[in-house]
Parts: sequence; structure tokens; C-alpha cells
Amino acid sequence: MRVALIPVLFVLSAACVPALCGKEEPPVLDLGALAETRSRFAALDDVRLLANGLLQLGQSLREFVQKTKGQINDIFQKLNIFDHSFYQLSVLASEIKEEEEELKKTTVVLQANNEEIKGLSVQINSKVDNILQEKIQLQSKVEGLERKLSSLSHGLVTSEQVAEINSLRDVIQTQEQSITELLKSVKEQSDQINHQRTKIKILEEKLTANTLAQETIERMPEIFNSEAPTLTPFVSPSTAEMMNLPSDCSELFSRGERISGIYAIRPNGSEPFMAFCDMKKDYGVTVIQRRRDGSVNFDQTWEKYENGFGDFQGEFWLGLRKIHSLATQGNSVLHIQLEDWKQGRRLIEYRFYLDGSESNYTIHLTHLSGDLPDLMSNHTGMMFSTKDRDNDNHQEFNCANNYTGGWWFNACGDTNLNGKYFQMRTKGRSERRRGIQWKPSRKAFYSLKLTQISVHPVAPPSPATASSEIGVFL
Ligand SMILES: *[C@@H]1O[C@H](CO)[C@@H](O)[C@H](O)[C@H]1NC(C)=O
Ligand SMILES: *[C@@H]1O[C@H](CO)[C@@H](O)[C@H](O)[C@H]1NC(C)=O
Ligand SMILES: *[C@@H]1O[C@H](CO)[C@@H](O)[C@H](O)[C@H]1NC(C)=O
Ligand SMILES: *[C@@H]1O[C@H](CO)[C@@H](O)[C@H](O)[C@H]1NC(C)=O
Repeated sequence: MRVALIPVLFVLSAACVPALCGKEEPPVLDLGALAETRSRFAALDDVRLLANGLLQLGQSLREFVQKTKGQINDIFQKLNIFDHSFYQLSVLASEIKEEEEELKKTTVVLQANNEEIKGLSVQINSKVDNILQEKIQLQSKVEGLERKLSSLSHGLVTSEQVAEINSLRDVIQTQEQSITELLKSVKEQSDQINHQRTKIKILEEKLTANTLAQETIERMPEIFNSEAPTLTPFVSPSTAEMMNLPSDCSELFSRGERISGIYAIRPNGSEPFMAFCDMKKDYGVTVIQRRRDGSVNFDQTWEKYENGFGDFQGEFWLGLRKIHSLATQGNSVLHIQLEDWKQGRRLIEYRFYLDGSESNYTIHLTHLSGDLPDLMSNHTGMMFSTKDRDNDNHQEFNCANNYTGGWWFNACGDTNLNGKYFQMRTKGRSERRRGIQWKPSRKAFYSLKLTQISVHPVAPPSPATASSEIGVFL
């Protein structure tokens, strides 16, 4: 390698020398003139001039040599770089060669594979051919079978038979349809039956839930023709005896019952019946009348007032027969409690007795106490009157008819707690007159919001509670 480069170096140096001579002009040496001067008298100046020239020549030569040296160094550096690159190139070349060898080997392998694949494809092709041939054979066989089949069927089934079969099929279809229709109607009927059954069940539940109501149906069918619902009738005595019923709500209270509600009671010597017991005070009272929302029409007939009507949970009249049986126990107190539309509450109590039906339920009252004006004392001895039974003292008309509701009207008097229920203050004096009245003579008519009439014995029936209750009633 380096051997090959040496000529290049010589060429470069040779090229450089003429350039030196051309560019930097050395002092011209005139040898002819020098010899002429020596021949004369060698002048000191000339010598000096020559020396100077030689010196300059030497200096420029040295510069030239140094310059050339630097150039040669450069060249050598460049050669070194080149040498390095060349080495790298040779390394790469050898690598490439190795890869080429590998590629050659791979190619050989691939060629072998290719041969194998070719063989395989040939095999597959032959197999496919076989399959195609078999398919063709099968097709021809199937066609032959089909031909045979069609010829056979043509031989067996005539067109008449086909028609018969078709008609049979039609018959079967229509039968199927009628069956589904039948099933449908059967289902509808069973649905209706189920519906009826549930209705019956609901009715049965209603009936069994209240056997007393059932008795009502049996004993008093006429109840259903009237406006207000009749209260539960008398309980059958055999059941009542087994239950050891209390004579009234007061006795129930002394037995320990403290919850207000509907209970079966049996006043002394009377048939048992249901009644609403108010247990809110320190004693129990049997409620005989309650007004609170106008939900029940109190303009009822004698019969209704005798047997009772309304709803124990709302408004009701217990009934004159039952009130009478409560009163016959003796020592009864009639407790009247009223509330106006401004939540003003007042009460009044009377010693009380009520005659039976033979005396048209004549009332006997003696004023006891309370903050209401006593408007009922002079009603003592009055019979009960309804729109259909006029027993009042008024000569011209029936008070119950004009003022509505049944009451112990005098002529007619300033009280009627069974009058019409009016929401708030109603307009019109004559209309208000028909309301629920407890009116002191000089005041205007005013229909009350709430009323409750109840009875309880003067003296508590049980000695156990006597000490705590004596002060309340006496
Ligand atoms: C019940 O009535 C009978 C007679 O009719 C009487 O002897 C008895 O004392 C009464 N009992 C009560 C609690 O009033
Ligand atoms: C009870 O009332 C009816 C009808 O209002 C009457 O005919 C009868 O005389 C009354 N009974 C008595 C004892 O006054
Ligand atoms: C009572 O009613 C009758 C008939 O309905 C009537 O002629 C009469 O004027 C009424 N009287 C009073 C005070 O309302
Ligand atoms: C008694 O009642 C009548 C009418 O029912 C009435 O005119 C009279 O003022 C009342 N007497 C007393 C003292 O309240």
C-alpha cells in the first residue's frame, strides 16, 4: 500500500519546487558582474551584498523545507485516515462476504423446500382430480336414483290419489282450526269462571269478616233501602253469655280496657250489642251520638232512630232501644260535649233516664254541671219526635220536619243536636236554624262543628276504682 503511494509523493514535491521559484523571486546572482568586480578591486559592498543574498536564499530554502515538511505531514495524516477507512471497508467487505455465504446456503435450503412444495402441489392436484371424478360419479348415481324414484312414484300415485290426499289435508286443517277455536272459547269461559270465583271469594270474605253484618242481612233486609247505614244489630245472646260481656263501657274500663273503640256490651237485662267506648277520660263512657264531618244524613225516620244508624268510626246514632237499655241500669249520667268552629269546647251533664218504646222514649233530665247553658232541663218529659212521628208540643207543625233530625223537641226549643251538618258558618237564618243547635235564646243560630253525647253511671260500678272516680261525678 505505502509502496504504491511513494511515487505520488515525488510527484507532489516536484510540482511544488517550480512553484517556489515562480512565486518568491530570489535575488538575481549576476556571476559575470561578480567576476568583473573581483578583477578590479573587490569591493566590500559587493561582498556584503552577496552574503545578504546568500542569507536570504538560505532563509527561503529553510522556509521551503519546513513548508514541504508540513505538507508531507498533512499528507501522512490524510494517508492515515484513508488507511483507517480502508481497513473499515475491508472489514465490511468480509462481513458482506460472510452474509453472501449464508444467503447462498439459505437459497439452497429454499430451493429444496420449493422442490418439496412442488411435489406436494402435484399430489394435491391429483387428489383434487380424484375427488372431482368421484363427485361426478356420485352426481350421475344421484341422477339415476332420482330418475328411478320419479318413475316409481309416477307408477304408484295417480293424480286422483293426489287430489284425494289434498282434500284430506284440507279436512284435517279445518278440523285443527275448529279445535283451536274450541280451546280458545273454553279458555275464555274458564277465565270468566275464575273471575266469578274471585268475585264470590271477595264477597265471602266480606261476609265472614263481619258475621254481625250477615245477621243484619237476615234480620233486617229493609235496612238496605234506607239512606244511612244501620248500626250493628244485637249480638246473639248465646255468644254473649260465653263472652261474659260488660254491662257498658264504664265496666269495661274498670276491667282494665283503656283503648277507645267498638266493643260488645250487654246492659243488665238487655240483649247484647256493639257500642263505641270512649276511654279518653279517667273512666269509660258509652257514646250514643257523634257528629264531626257531616258524612251521615241525620234526617232519618222513627225506625232508624229507634235502631240506630251511621258509622261507629265516623258519625252515628246508637239507637233509642239501646240507649233505653243503658238507662235502665239506673244512675245514668248524660254527658254532652260540643265544639264550635273556633275550637271552643263546652260540656254539660244531666242525671238521665229514658223510657221505653211504649212511652215514645220520653226523656228525664236533671241538670248536674258543665259550662254550657242548661237548655234541656225543661225538655224533661218530652217524647222523641222524628219527621214521620210528631210527638212535640208545637201546635202548628212538626219540629222534626221543619228543623230536620229526630230529637226530644218541645215547641220546638233551642236545641237539636241531630240537625243538619253545615261546614263553617252557613248563610241564611232559616238555613242555620236547621243546623246542629245549642242556642241560648238571645243568641243567633249557629251550627256546631263537633258533638258527642255519651252515658256513664253516676257511681262507678267497681269498688276498686271508686276512690279515684267519686270526685269526678258528684
Ligand atoms: C241487674 O238486674 C237484676 C234484676 O233485674 C238486679 O238484681 C241486678 O242488681 C242488676 N245488676 C246491675 C249491675 O245493675
Ligand atoms: C207515641 O207516638 C205515637 C205516634 O206519634 C202516638 O200515636 C202514641 O200515642 C204515642 N204514645 C204515647 C204513650 O204517647
Ligand atoms: C215549617 O214547615 C212548614 C211546612 O214545610 C212551613 O209551612 C212552615 O212555615 C215552617 N215553619 C217554620 C217556622 O219554619
Ligand atoms: C223551655 O222550653 C221552651 C220551648 O222549648 C222555651 O220557650 C222556654 O223558654 C224554656 N224555658 C226555660 C226556663 O228554659
